[in-house]
Amino acid sequence: MQMKNEMTEYERKIKRVAISEEEIAAAIKKAGAEISAEYEGKPLLLVSILKGAFVFMADLCRAVTIPHDIDFMCAKSYYAGTESSGVVKITMDLVHEVKDYHVVIVEDIVDTGRTLSDIIKLLKAREPLSLKVVTLLDKPSRRLVDFKADKALFTIPDFFVIGYGLDCDEKYRNLPYIAEYGE
Ligand code: IMP
Ligand code: MG
Repeated sequence: MQMKNEMTEYERKIKRVAISEEEIAAAIKKAGAEISAEYEGKPLLLVSILKGAFVFMADLCRAVTIPHDIDFMCAKSYYAGTESSGVVKITMDLVHEVKDYHVVIVEDIVDTGRTLSDIIKLLKAREPLSLKVVTLLDKPSRRLVDFKADKALFTIPDFFVIGYGLDCDEKYRNLPYIAEYGE
């Protein structure tokens, strides 16, 4: 039987808190205010890429004070070697017609940049009024394709993070903070 004060394997792999709940909340409040000012009076659609960005989307949309719509999509990219094929398979598409909106993609993390650069190609072809990307986290040192988010709330070094929507084998998405994962 497990002792009460003994750490489980699950808990032990949460190495340290990298970004606290308070830091996340403050950065989202600021980003929400900036988005509200930029899109005032314009038809705005926030698009979240599932699943990782669902927690960020939930908090960011509540920090945006102007009227707006939200939508979700689920996408998988296919690659030949390290080169993006530019082929992204939509496993769940948007409900909205993006032509009618200024679109802001809400993403959890930009790593190699391949997924987002494919999604941007695809959404641009649908001719939105404008298209921008806001990401909670950015790992620029890992980039394999030339991609830069319009807004990145936190830039982090190359370590694997979990929590606040981000997973390791589908676990840890429920942590309220961003943590470094590891042995
Ligand atoms: P990429 O930019 O195409 O390489 O893909 C980024 C996606 O990989 C993100 O949306 C995450 O789902 C996942 N990912 C990348 N780095 C991490 C990490 O440190 N923790 C959890 N998921 C990650
Ligand atoms: Mg993601």
